[in-house]
Amino acid sequence: MGDLKKELALALLLAVISVGFGATDPHDLAILNDFRKGLENPELLKWPSKDDDPCGNKWPCVFCDGSRVSQIQVQGFGLKGPLPQNFNQLSMLSNIGLQKNQFYGPLPSFNGLKNLQYAFLNYNNFTSIPADFFTGLDSLEVLALDGNNLNGSSGWMFPPALSNSAQLTNLTCMSCNLAGPLPDFLGSMSSLSVLSLSGNRLTGRIPASFKGMVLTKFWLNNQMGDGMSGSIDVVTTMTSLNSLWLHGNHFSGTIPDNIGDLSLLQDLNLNGNEFVGLIPKSLADMSLRNLDLNNNNFMGPVPKFKASKVSYSSNQFCLTEEGVACAPQVMALIEFLGAMGYPSRLVSAWTGNDPCEGPWLGLNCRSGDVSVINLPKFDLNGTLSPSLADLISLAEIRLQDNHLSGTIPSNWTGLKSLSLLDLSGNNISPPVPRFSSTVKLSTGGNPLLDGKQSPSSEIGGPSPSDSRSSPTTEPSPSSGNGVRQASTRSKASIIVSTVVPVVSVVVVAFVAIPLSIYLCKKRKRNGQAPSSLVVHPRDPSDPNNLVKIVVANNTNNSTSTASGSGSGSRNYSGFGDSHVIETGNLVISVQVLRNVTNNFSSENELGRGGFGVVYRGELDDGTKIAVKRMESGVISSKALDEFQSEIAVLSKVRHRHLVSLLGYSIAGNERLLVYEYMSEGALSKHLFHWESFKLEPLSWKRRLNIALDVARGMEYLHSLAHQSFIHRDLKSSNILLGDDFRAKVSDFGLVKLAPDGERSVVTRLAGTFGYLAPEYAVTGKITTKADVFSFGVVLMELLTGLMALDEDRSEESQYLAAWFWHIKSDKEKLMAAVDPSLGCKEDISESICIIAELAGHCTAREPTQRPDMGHAVNVLAPLVEKWKPIDDDTEEYSGIDYSLPLNQMVKGWQESEGSDFSYVDLQDSKGSIPSRPTGFADSFTSVDGR
Ligand SMILES: *[C@@H]1O[C@H](CO)[C@@H](O)[C@H](O)[C@H]1NC(C)=O
Ligand SMILES: *[C@@H]1O[C@H](CO)[C@@H](O)[C@H](O)[C@H]1NC(C)=O
Ligand SMILES: *[C@@H]1O[C@H](CO)[C@@H](O)[C@H](O)[C@H]1NC(C)=O
Ligand SMILES: *[C@@H]1O[C@H](CO)[C@@H](O)[C@H](O)[C@H]1NC(C)=O
Ligand SMILES: *[C@@H]1O[C@H](CO)[C@@H](O)[C@H](O)[C@H]1NC(C)=O
Repeated sequence: MGDLKKELALALLLAVISVGFGATDPHDLAILNDFRKGLENPELLKWPSKDDDPCGNKWPCVFCDGSRVSQIQVQGFGLKGPLPQNFNQLSMLSNIGLQKNQFYGPLPSFNGLKNLQYAFLNYNNFTSIPADFFTGLDSLEVLALDGNNLNGSSGWMFPPALSNSAQLTNLTCMSCNLAGPLPDFLGSMSSLSVLSLSGNRLTGRIPASFKGMVLTKFWLNNQMGDGMSGSIDVVTTMTSLNSLWLHGNHFSGTIPDNIGDLSLLQDLNLNGNEFVGLIPKSLADMSLRNLDLNNNNFMGPVPKFKASKVSYSSNQFCLTEEGVACAPQVMALIEFLGAMGYPSRLVSAWTGNDPCEGPWLGLNCRSGDVSVINLPKFDLNGTLSPSLADLISLAEIRLQDNHLSGTIPSNWTGLKSLSLLDLSGNNISPPVPRFSSTVKLSTGGNPLLDGKQSPSSEIGGPSPSDSRSSPTTEPSPSSGNGVRQASTRSKASIIVSTVVPVVSVVVVAFVAIPLSIYLCKKRKRNGQAPSSLVVHPRDPSDPNNLVKIVVANNTNNSTSTASGSGSGSRNYSGFGDSHVIETGNLVISVQVLRNVTNNFSSENELGRGGFGVVYRGELDDGTKIAVKRMESGVISSKALDEFQSEIAVLSKVRHRHLVSLLGYSIAGNERLLVYEYMSEGALSKHLFHWESFKLEPLSWKRRLNIALDVARGMEYLHSLAHQSFIHRDLKSSNILLGDDFRAKVSDFGLVKLAPDGERSVVTRLAGTFGYLAPEYAVTGKITTKADVFSFGVVLMELLTGLMALDEDRSEESQYLAAWFWHIKSDKEKLMAAVDPSLGCKEDISESICIIAELAGHCTAREPTQRPDMGHAVNVLAPLVEKWKPIDDDTEEYSGIDYSLPLNQMVKGWQESEGSDFSYVDLQDSKGSIPSRPTGFADSFTSVDGR
């Protein structure tokens, strides 16, 4: 009763103070007036000031239903200000369009707006959203909240009350600061057709409740932070899908075979995830408009795609040409990986189309065929694939001490050359097929087999305990790894003592350090290098092109290739072990290298390092190589055997971000190493001397790419199978850039093999002052963490454009690492330290802070406090994948115009930044697909064809 009186009084009051009696509900009028009053620029509304009848007099932008306000449409007016907090008392509101203004402050609750059908609140500056906002929105059909940074650092998530909006069809909330996992209830919203949640901080999997949703557009791309993960199997049940964007996350697993069920799909973007396995035929056969598969770990052949636009660079395809089958051995091995769930360590190492070439972890070959699978203690899960039965030369399968389950495939008994099968310490189930008596079978330590009569014992195989205690991790001496193993076993050590000046973060001191050089003794080589050599490239259109070096032997004129593809004779008299050939480790005649470098002429000089001078060499057909000529005395003739065995090891280290060693040459005092040629030279040149070389300064994007490339290369070095390689001399002059400005780490002259297990050796002090980890500088003790320190210093150089050590700088900033530690946590000082050549064209402050933090961690004083390189990769990868330049022209300040088709977004980046970005590489300036994508091909392309 009292309320009613009050309301009447209020209405009367309003009526009295107004000029006349209007047809508009006075409550609604009051809210409109509050709305106007709160604005900084109300004049833009053009609402008459002395008028109280928006409905009767039809104020601009206001629509009524009788006396009640039903719509306010002010999109793009440039309005600034908050909304009145009692906004939800406009209870007849059905359609509100406030998008693309600068409304700020907390969003009022919309609780109880039961007639509201359309709510466009997107692209404003609202700062928070109340928890009861979504309550009672019974008629809601479209809700757009994109581009409002709601609820600050904690972010927010749709509350369950939203599920009562049963008619909701379009829910878009891109870059609206959602955080955490997607709630299950979204899956039960059966009208939902558009769900666009790009650019948030979503994590976790796509909920199982999403099964069968009728979404046409489903966008989850570019989640910041951890991103979304898990398999995408559930999307194949969303058969209405037209556009599916999942790029820039951590989704994993294979693409489900039934992806072809999505018969309406036009746009599929999976770029920058962790997908593995083969591309299913059903995907290749889909008539998509756009298909983006870049930057995953897809393997096997590139199928012929029906999509009108497709890109797939930076994967692990065996070949890059569409529709060309992989070698049968490769397919068998991929299936083997598939049965084990594609373990990432092997996926990243098993690249290319020849398991006998390059770093196929855990495999050894004989005569170009896989003869040994050696993967003990690899944490392998899953089952054994019958596909191994197709590797007819397999002699040894060593898979002991993993978590493999299932049965031993019966067709493995058909492996004629098999002599050893060690599956001990797994979880294999019976029955065990009957192998021939020549097979040594070890199945001890498999709980499901234990106690059962194993056929192996019938045929006199070793007892389980025998096999467990034998040194089974040792590959057979016939294998390629034999060299590496032999070299770590029989060490001849020479103790050299010298005085080395040391600069470290904490001390500048002179420390005398006894230098122990562990030198490795190789098996005897008999004979010398062949007397003549012809170098010619393979088919230049083959992107997998390695320089093919044919060695001609004087005595019998037989020739063979180093690429290992042919099955011709590899048995050179006078050329030593066949595995030397198989691993592509090449002896090259000095005369040839003299000729191709124009007799080591100074105009061919590429650079000088601690070990000697590097020359450009040009083969007859124009193929370029880099020849490092060691200074005489660096390798004495006494140390020659060791030098050669070191080369044997180094030439096997192949990775797309490591400069490949292609061969070597020894004659008299000449010691020459042949490397792939990197056209843009050292990173240091581009960072510190770009002006004098008249180069463009490196953009931030390129720097991020370079940092990631280096991190990936170093991660690979550090995590090689049984050994860990430590670079010891990582610095920006040892980081080389190819013509696409992608980086590779070079100079393994100092890399030594760390012993198995204990990864610390007291060793010769390598490394260059300024990059040296303190513990390495002071004690000479080295672990992979010394490389991490150096990497951190390189990051600082990328960020500041300052050299690691520069005595011309003031005392406190001479040593970059020490100085950087002082400034890195002060944002202002940090920003002031950013390389001025980066200009202000790019909005980089956020990634700067991340890089600075990473650089700090990497250079922590205690080695144990430093992350490993894998962490650096994890930090850098999302920056590279997600970072884009701000395009000043887009009206949407988020900087990403999601409404554009993908190819136009890509073109935008291209125009603003040049075409160096790997995602962009795929499209030439006309937007068409070049016939030869880059990406994986880089990993084995040694030299540019022209
Ligand atoms: C709105 O937010 C954008 C981007 O965060 C900012 O540039 C702009 O200054 C803000 N406007 C107002 C009025 O706060
Ligand atoms: C957003 O933050 C406000 C206040 O900061 C809080 O009251 C509200 O519950 C949050 N919204 C959601 C949806 O969590
Ligand atoms: C809902 O989203 C679809 C697809 O983006 C769009 O075509 C449609 O116009 C949207 N509906 C409304 C009312 O905005
Ligand atoms: C095997 O499974 C375990 C537990 O799920 C997991 O931690 C491990 O990474 C898996 N191994 C591989 C090689 O994927
Ligand atoms: C082994 O079995 C698999 C699957 O059953 C088959 O694909 C493969 O051809 C077989 N290999 C041999 C050599 O029998």
